[in-house]
Amino acid sequence: MVSYKELGLVNTKEMFAKAVKGGYAIPAFNFNTMEQMQAIVQASVETKSPVIMQVSKGARKYANPTILRYMAQGAVEYAKELGCPAPQIVLHLDHGDSFETCKSCIDTGFSSVMIDGSHLPYEENIALTKKVVEYAHAHDVTVEAELGVLAGVEDEVSAAESHYTKPEEVIDFATRTGCDSLAISIGTSHGAYKFTPAQCTRDPETGKLVPPPLAFDILKAIEEKLPGFPIVLHGSSSVPQDHVDTINKFGGKLPDAVGIPEEQLRKAASSAVCKINIDSDSRLAMTAAIRQHFAENPGHFDPRQYLTPARDAMKAMYVHKILNVLGSNDKL
Ligand code: G3H
Ligand code: 13P
Ligand code: ZN
Repeated sequence: MVSYKELGLVNTKEMFAKAVKGGYAIPAFNFNTMEQMQAIVQASVETKSPVIMQVSKGARKYANPTILRYMAQGAVEYAKELGCPAPQIVLHLDHGDSFETCKSCIDTGFSSVMIDGSHLPYEENIALTKKVVEYAHAHDVTVEAELGVLAGVEDEVSAAESHYTKPEEVIDFATRTGCDSLAISIGTSHGAYKFTPAQCTRDPETGKLVPPPLAFDILKAIEEKLPGFPIVLHGSSSVPQDHVDTINKFGGKLPDAVGIPEEQLRKAASSAVCKINIDSDSRLAMTAAIRQHFAENPGHFDPRQYLTPARDAMKAMYVHKILNVLGSNDKL
């Protein structure tokens, strides 16, 4: 049994309370590799931002759970080394699929877990979430739950269509489960293809897709039902078109990739939304930098040569999100 407190990590309780009050959102960046971890820590230290480093089931499989936990411990020490005396770093399980996975993370140093019962019937989602909350709270670990289903693929849970969160259910769900934060569905989705071209209009000048707006009326209704309660947005990459264009220019093939416009995310961050999940934008930044590097330096084969610009590109993206979208800078 390893407590996150021994690793210098924190849970989300205090940082969410401050974020809701202050009208900003905490970045939740997924990580699988050392370069992503370094870029996340560099960006959060440089901007003085609290940060959530989150790990999916796929990341645990790819990198090994023990290694990821030591990387999070290393992230705390690295932040201190970079000049941040009291880093606020959360190690969070993203889309936990069972009580057992959540328990295993809590027992090995995670400070926050998500139990994603959004695909289950309502009462089963409540029962599973409540079971995880009871175990997590006994260890001072915070729990994110989900109500409503995002379109796209949630780890192994596939949903062809999104089902928006029903505001009339949120009070009952939050009260009966005791969860600390709630992920909702208001039109975001995972991945780099958030909307089909048929769901979008096209900008006549650039030819780029313009996605439909998020359902801010549902967000407002949820906020009215649960004033001050921390709300989470998954699937919040904006799929920067400069990265998509770079990837396509240097041999990639990402036609019609489209994300959530940043002005909509800014609007969400200034409301009860206090955690915004970003994974795909980091993948795009990394892939664009590597493709460009290989195209311009065909003789390079030392991974440090192409992973350095990849890490720098991810760091620049994280800094941009913190400063210009989430507003979580200067909070440490
Ligand atoms: O919610 C999904 C995250 O982007 C994690 O993706 O399961 O491919 O690691 P992954
Ligand atoms: P994106 O695919 O939009 O980056 O969403 C990531 C996410 O929600 C992780 O849980
Ligand atoms: Zn997600």
